[in-house]
Amino acid sequence: MNRRVLFATAELTPLARVGGLAEAAGGLVRSLQAQSVPITVVMPDYTGLELTEERSIDLEVPAWAGPMRARRGAINDLADVILIDRPGIARPHPYVEPSTGNGWPDNDWRFMCFSVGVAALAELLKPDVLHLNDWHSAAALGFLATPPPTVLTIHTLGYQGMCDAEWLNRIPHRPWHFAWYDGCNPLLGAIRSADKIIAVSPNYATEIIEPEGGMGLHDDLKRRQDDLVGIRNGIDTSIWNPLTDPSLELNYGPGDIEVGKRQARQALCAEFGAELENDVILGVVSRLVDQKGVDFMTGLAPFLAGMKAKLILLGSGQSELVESVEEMAANHPDRVSVVTDRYDEPLAHRIFAGSDLFLMPSRFEPCGLAQMQAMAYGTSPVVTPVGGLVDTVTDADKHRSTGTGFVAETNDFAGFVDAVHRGLRTTRVAARRRLIQQRAMEIDWSWEAPAKRHIEVYEKAIQSSSKR
Ligand code: GLC
Repeated sequence: MNRRVLFATAELTPLARVGGLAEAAGGLVRSLQAQSVPITVVMPDYTGLELTEERSIDLEVPAWAGPMRARRGAINDLADVILIDRPGIARPHPYVEPSTGNGWPDNDWRFMCFSVGVAALAELLKPDVLHLNDWHSAAALGFLATPPPTVLTIHTLGYQGMCDAEWLNRIPHRPWHFAWYDGCNPLLGAIRSADKIIAVSPNYATEIIEPEGGMGLHDDLKRRQDDLVGIRNGIDTSIWNPLTDPSLELNYGPGDIEVGKRQARQALCAEFGAELENDVILGVVSRLVDQKGVDFMTGLAPFLAGMKAKLILLGSGQSELVESVEEMAANHPDRVSVVTDRYDEPLAHRIFAGSDLFLMPSRFEPCGLAQMQAMAYGTSPVVTPVGGLVDTVTDADKHRSTGTGFVAETNDFAGFVDAVHRGLRTTRVAARRRLIQQRAMEIDWSWEAPAKRHIEVYEKAIQSSSKR
């Protein structure tokens, strides 16, 4: 039987996109919809998106959160979307003031309002399962006397929505779940209240119950261990597919990888002035935030000439990190090219296709999508041994017959440089390189299997909630 799911997220491709949350939410929702799960997406109304067959629902909410209404309709290929509309929620960027990169000062209030809206909708629609994603909607569980069966997905523990203890006075149900030191922690509240918890990769599920990976919440997560499961994300293979990708001059698959990649590489070298025959192209497509190990990327710059490598980076984010990569490009003009002023989707595709190696030195990485996108294009990722990177990339030196990339032995700069060197060495041996690339391309990175596992977790949440 197909369960009715109310799916709350602060981002969803292409309606509102900041990072991986948008991609993951978008991919999962579409896959569930394709598997006939009746799923309703609820998102904040940031920009007044146009819905078809729109109808408006007034929501009953506490005075501080109102007046609030829900706009319900369809958009793009999504059959049922609800946008929570309340003056003050809409902004040109979901989280930050675009000119400074600083968070909006009233984000606590904005996302508490969103959570109140999600709770009011859950009361109204009585879904079989309420699926919350990250901290933005997590407080909904404090506004529901008897929540429906609930699943919380942790896309990252890096943001918990920590806010002033005053908020605890406004949370009517089980406020103690949200109490954390001298403040209110929405994500923790949901960790303590949800029936089931999903981490976005199996390895992340094991990391977050330990002090090093739990970002302060490991004890609570450990207590919930029996209800915690890791399911790796998928990627949207209708978009990330070199066989059909319109941003490539020549489409290719695992069978004609050599021709396809040569062409993509040639185009990228011409675009960024690399030497076609001698240089190895190291690609990066990343948000420039602390988590992504930007200092490891800039740390490589002095070695690039000796490595005969060229680094091509597309990324935007925190201003000091943007400055640091721009400085690297200014200091090493022949070895480094960076594009930081825009997120250029077609360029991202060209970098995934045209690079020899894809660098992803994350300090922590709950799942990570870019490494899978790189592999889908036959580009070997070089990664740190953290989170979902470990679940998705198999080291080609340690595992000769199954390797798909290069995994650093240690999560530090020396380990990463070593992995880059190993990658470079292999890349220069055509026959071995091709095998590794082909293997990575042949893996099914789609959402189909992960979405099926979500359906199983929904069933388990329903069972658990009946024993509450
Ligand atoms: C967050 C995580 C990333 C994950 C994404 C989608 O952005 O940092 O690792 O892939 O969420 O779940």
